[in-house]
Amino acid sequence: MRKINVRTSHPYEVLIERGALAECGKYIANVTKSRKAAVITDDIVEKLHLQTALDSLKKEGFECSVYSFPNGEEAKCLENLGNIYDFLCKSNITRSDIVIALGGGVVGDITGFAAASYLRGVEFVQIPTTLLAQVDSSVGGKTAINIAGGKNLVGAFKQPALVICDSDILKTLPEETLAEGMGECIKYGMIRDEKLFELMESHDLSTVDEIMDEMVYECVDIKRIIVEHDECDRGERMVLNFGHTLGHAIEAWHNYKGIFHGEGVAAGMCMITDRLAPQLSDRLKKVCAAYKLPTGSDIPMKELLPFCSKDKKNEAKDINYIICEEIGKGEIVKVPFTEFCRLMEG
Ligand code: GLY
Repeated sequence: MRKINVRTSHPYEVLIERGALAECGKYIANVTKSRKAAVITDDIVEKLHLQTALDSLKKEGFECSVYSFPNGEEAKCLENLGNIYDFLCKSNITRSDIVIALGGGVVGDITGFAAASYLRGVEFVQIPTTLLAQVDSSVGGKTAINIAGGKNLVGAFKQPALVICDSDILKTLPEETLAEGMGECIKYGMIRDEKLFELMESHDLSTVDEIMDEMVYECVDIKRIIVEHDECDRGERMVLNFGHTLGHAIEAWHNYKGIFHGEGVAAGMCMITDRLAPQLSDRLKKVCAAYKLPTGSDIPMKELLPFCSKDKKNEAKDINYIICEEIGKGEIVKVPFTEFCRLMEG
């Protein structure tokens, strides 16, 4: 088993092992004295993986209650959060019990926020079931829901008590969901680790399972280092946003429909690299294409740029964007938004 110790304000381990889901009860029993658990999942993951998790939890003596909601980003909302609070209350979950998020980013984000706020904080465990959730959203403590004003606008930093990554679970993912997770993995290689980038270059979407554990380990370890330095996202953690300024703009332009987050990130990484580090462009585009990810966007830059600024009323405001001029060396650059526009339109 691969193990990563995340030394944040509330330290925890990330366990990476094939078949770990079937052993999750044993691992969770090590992080709580309680034998009462609330499992939160979605209807797709429920069908595929819930029983395996429950069997293992029951074997360790856990009494489990389950709340499942329809899969999709729409579920990351206030109404569903309210339903989760009601479920936790009806299940008599106390501050000494444990909440388990079994699912992708949506399940992890809303469950984490419920755990951060219910009874002013209950311990929770992440069992991420998508590649994107394993390498990104389950680690680092960002939890949130969406409101009408925007995505992830209400949330909290709440580090989990444990993260359990089982790469066998990823075999059940649709190809495009696996591919979008690769967008984030390629990002880690670009910003911090050329060897990881080379490992991904030596495979493609059809063979990535061969390197899955090693790749997930390296990506999570990069995130660990960054989060340990900057848990509350005030500086270095921004480097994780490589490709995200334009990626988020592409997602928003599409009104978050018909495009995956990781696809936006891949396109965003390629576009900024094309413009500001063209010497790396071919290599980056080749690896994105190998994982069936976009290497750019047909949307005119003029239409995308307004989605890049958080403060649309103040164009003189600074914008932070990430650039990699060498593979493994991501840097945060801060410029007035108008200058960013000139760079991208130039
Ligand atoms: N997903 C970016 C971060 O955790 O900061």
